[in-house]
Amino acid sequence: MSNNFYHYPGWVRLWHLINAILCLFLIVTGFSMLYSDPENALVVKFQRAVAIHNVCGVLLTISYTLFLFGNLFTPNGRNYLISLKGLGTRLWKQGYFYAFGYFKGEKAPFPVGSDRKFNPLQQVSYIGVMYLVLPMLFITGWALMFPEFILKKFLGLSGIFLTDQFHVVLGFLVVVFLFIHIYVSTMGKSMVSNFRSIVTGWQESH
Ligand code: HEM
Repeated sequence: MSNNFYHYPGWVRLWHLINAILCLFLIVTGFSMLYSDPENALVVKFQRAVAIHNVCGVLLTISYTLFLFGNLFTPNGRNYLISLKGLGTRLWKQGYFYAFGYFKGEKAPFPVGSDRKFNPLQQVSYIGVMYLVLPMLFITGWALMFPEFILKKFLGLSGIFLTDQFHVVLGFLVVVFLFIHIYVSTMGKSMVSNFRSIVTGWQESH
């Protein structure tokens, strides 16, 4: 363990585990509501899907609030502060590495270390999902739980319909993020090293 460094504090690992489990439940029940079919055994029954989805949504909002406080009051929040200077070039370099360099055995352009937790693409995608997509999902999700607060009509269309459509699109974005997140997480020092690291907290040096 001598060259390894402590990368994920306990609270981040606990939050991430709870967050991942809740998101998986939300995705399964969300799809079940969208493609509701009492004849299909793979789909959770509509009423049960709604109940589980609501409970998990409330729990996810609570765990997200704890994540926000953690990032506000511990050094972990610094990893989410991005410098816009040269960002395009950094993203391009990292994107090139993921698409080509990694398969040619090239060195990572922004290796993680005790001084850098995320590469530029991780940083942008984590900021996007945690500070843009999830908050909008919560707002639209809570609004759908209390539809009396939603505008009756907006641009001639039902407010509930529009909120629901927006909520579904944001949910799809989380699904897309999750696929890319898990795939890219396999491109660490070894295929499993990032997964080991988010469980144990220790990251292998590059
Ligand atoms: C089965 C589901 C999931 C798996 C296997 C997984 C895997 C991982 C792994 C291996 C890492 C560490 C490597 C890295 O930093 O890139 C990580 C970190 C992270 N994941 Fe996930 N993840 C999952 C679900 C999610 C979901 C649903 C979200 C958000 C909606 C998420 C957001 C994050 C964030 C923000 C970090 C960085 C945390 C920090 O250090 O501040 N993950 N995940």
